[in-house]
Amino acid sequence: MDAINNDSHSFARLGQSIITHLNWDARIDFNKKKIFATATYQIKKLPNAKIIVLDTKNLNIRSVVNGNNETLPFELLEPQHFLGQALKIQLSSNTKLISITYETNKSAEALQWLSPQQTADKTFPFLFTQSQAILARSWIPIQDSPGIRFTYDAKVEVPKNLIALMSANNPTKKNDSGIYNFKMEQPIPAYLLALSAGDLVYKPISDRSGVYAEPSVLDDALYEFEDLEKMISTAESLYGEYKWGKYDLLVLPPSFPFGGMENPKLTFATPTILAGDKSLTSLVAHELAHSWSGNLVTNATWDDFWLNEGFTVYFEYRIMEALYGREYSEMLASLSMNGLKEELESLPAEDTRLKLNLKGRNPDDGMTSIAYDKGYFFLRSLEEKFGREKFDLFLKTYFSQNAYQSITTEKFIEILNKQLIEEYQIDLPKDFLNEWIYTHGLPNDSPTPSPEKFKTVDKAILQLLKNMTASQMKDEFKTDQWSTHEWIQFVSELPNQLDSVQLRSLDEVFGFTKSQNSEIFSVWAKVSIQNNYQPCYPYIESFLIKTGRRKFLMPLYTALIQTEEGKKWAKEVYKKARPNYHYVASSSIDELLE
Ligand code: BES
Ligand code: ZN
Repeated sequence: MDAINNDSHSFARLGQSIITHLNWDARIDFNKKKIFATATYQIKKLPNAKIIVLDTKNLNIRSVVNGNNETLPFELLEPQHFLGQALKIQLSSNTKLISITYETNKSAEALQWLSPQQTADKTFPFLFTQSQAILARSWIPIQDSPGIRFTYDAKVEVPKNLIALMSANNPTKKNDSGIYNFKMEQPIPAYLLALSAGDLVYKPISDRSGVYAEPSVLDDALYEFEDLEKMISTAESLYGEYKWGKYDLLVLPPSFPFGGMENPKLTFATPTILAGDKSLTSLVAHELAHSWSGNLVTNATWDDFWLNEGFTVYFEYRIMEALYGREYSEMLASLSMNGLKEELESLPAEDTRLKLNLKGRNPDDGMTSIAYDKGYFFLRSLEEKFGREKFDLFLKTYFSQNAYQSITTEKFIEILNKQLIEEYQIDLPKDFLNEWIYTHGLPNDSPTPSPEKFKTVDKAILQLLKNMTASQMKDEFKTDQWSTHEWIQFVSELPNQLDSVQLRSLDEVFGFTKSQNSEIFSVWAKVSIQNNYQPCYPYIESFLIKTGRRKFLMPLYTALIQTEEGKKWAKEVYKKARPNYHYVASSSIDELLE
């Protein structure tokens, strides 16, 4: 493996020496909101390498020693925007082990320390990390590049009434010592390092899967994720064996900034997918799919992010199709196309290529629909050109041949040419790969999903605009039987301008303002803001205060700041909400509200 890729978001390659194993010995201090730790690394160095370079951000480095406990000279270079500081350590000719004692800072960006009040059960404090894309370096000095992999073990001490969990082999019960041991025997990149500590309980779903949640959330979560084992075996039947042993879910408090994060063996998930009717579980299929696309075969740099996310969306929809039918997965794909088209209108052209150039920028900027949805439609168009059978075989082979490797876009193209295009000698339109991967926008001949159920939804909207009332619509279109995805389509395709009489009657008949489904509520909240529909505002306020999921927050704050009045209100709400947000959410919203 070419471990030292040209990754502009890590200082690691400067040293030409790489870490191969981490032993992490840590104490989690909830009073000081700090982690005190020693990170010991086995390293591999090139014959002439005299240094090793690690990424750090806001860490207090206390000491660096070698395997014989002899001090090694080190230097922290000038901080750089986003990237933090390079930690440059001098090696002697026989150094094989380095041991770094350090503590995190209050502002450690990956960490969110929650007070009891910010948890579901309101009794114990809580901590979780979010390392992707380049925040692992804020809680551990590490070579924070997706092109560098290492195995790890850890010993973590937490207050006695809490349990610690990591992206590793996990305990299923609290113990009396507050000390927990972990092992990750497969090599992973730093962005998949994860830790959580809280009052958590576990119940299995099958012998290799289960759910961790706060006690009051566990039963709802078990119901919601009842099909988890079916998802895993479906995924295996598509693209090969699940390689990570256990697959558990950890349901976090609502401030978790993402829908889900594919930490190996233990996906971190937002509680906003607990809809009560299993309608939002495609997110679990997505994080599970990362166990192949991303965690086994990893994007070499954040410029290749679409290799992680585009493949994962494709795999996610295939799992959902196998479990719940083509019409279901076509609704997901169609919503994906809507999102992509909307985002294409707002992004600068150069950010709409699959292969990105994020040098000098925050890799977070690449987290757009392009990687996810344009990536998906590219793979879907390959599937349509070659046929499912050949394409599935190609993907299955791709995952097994490149397991535990990091792949650049260029390497992927090489593999695609060799193992699919030349293998089957099918003529692709001229410039096909170039258009999808290196050209902005969406190719004209992109696949376009068109689920029957959405055609009906779109008709309903037309009728509504032609003076049909909401309650007539309810009868005529049998909306009692509509699924969550039909409602998302309905609300998000409503015209931007609606009058208050229309909004009020829609709300009366369909109960959007009081919807307990976070996806439906969030699209309705946006419509409400666009039309200044006041009855929804108190609900929007409590949603914004409670939920820290950036995907929901950004569109709502963005809609609010379109008017002076809205902006003022947004700032007032944000004052109350900000303490509940993780750094990745608050930094985006700080920027938005200035
Ligand atoms: N790995 C991502 C989350 C991520 C990406 C975090 C980049 C930080 C930087 C995760 O798999 C993801 O894509 N989550 C989505 C859910 C999904 C169903 C599209 C999310 O959180 O909304
Ligand atoms: Zn993902």
